Amino acid sequence: MRKPLIAGNWKMNKTASQAEELAGALKDKLKNENKVDIIICPPFTSLEAACKVVKGSNIGLGAQNIYWEEEGAYTGEISAPMIKEIGCQSVIIGHSERRQFFGETNETVNRKVKAALKFDLTPLVCVGERLEEKEAGRTFSVVESHIKEGLTGLKKEEILKIVVAYEPVWAIGTGKTATPQEANEVHSHIRRLLTGLYGEEVASRVRILYGGSVKPDNISGLMSETDIDGALVGGASLQADSFVGIVQGAG
Ligand code: 13P
Repeated sequence: MRKPLIAGNWKMNKTASQAEELAGALKDKLKNENKVDIIICPPFTSLEAACKVVKGSNIGLGAQNIYWEEEGAYTGEISAPMIKEIGCQSVIIGHSERRQFFGETNETVNRKVKAALKFDLTPLVCVGERLEEKEAGRTFSVVESHIKEGLTGLKKEEILKIVVAYEPVWAIGTGKTATPQEANEVHSHIRRLLTGLYGEEVASRVRILYGGSVKPDNISGLMSETDIDGALVGGASLQADSFVGIVQGAG
């Protein structure tokens, strides 16, 4: 049985003081929630402030990216041990915005996933097709290359530590959600791929989140599908009430 997971990707929003305020409100409103795992992913500069608030609570902390080297002359980059020490347990890897604007490829995703695992961080690995790929009927093949190349070289026990997030790029920040059935078809395909690569026992335990315009009013429909185990939430994670509504709707 896979426990639902709701993760909030704050993207480039919330200064440290704003993060402290939002994290405080979430901690208070979600203090009795135990049916759903909860993670917030503030920007790097707000991680420490958010960590002070959520430490010891039922809310986990994740970063939005890392570089794969541990340290060195890589101006502007942040490494896995740095976010680990500041209090993160997880990290988003390969978000479509990073693929689109910052040149991430399946190869860099793979290096980052390995770096995260080395420091015992849970990678939330993002996969998903762009609109033109969907229209060309290439959804399954794009997702397949994201999974196969992004996770290449990982052992079965490492696969058990990852979370996959299926985020169709055309549904991100657009208000267009994939229908629950449409999303589930891709989720089931991802699970079949994982089954082929790592066996059913492993594949049946990996959580696959959906992301793309998730809101309090569409979460329960998504969660009623067989292979949707939670959500990676962008815009609606920036206000306490909408994020709380999504967490409650997922339980
Ligand atoms: P929205 O929820 O704003 O569509 O963003 C989804 C997303 O990109 C989460 O990582």
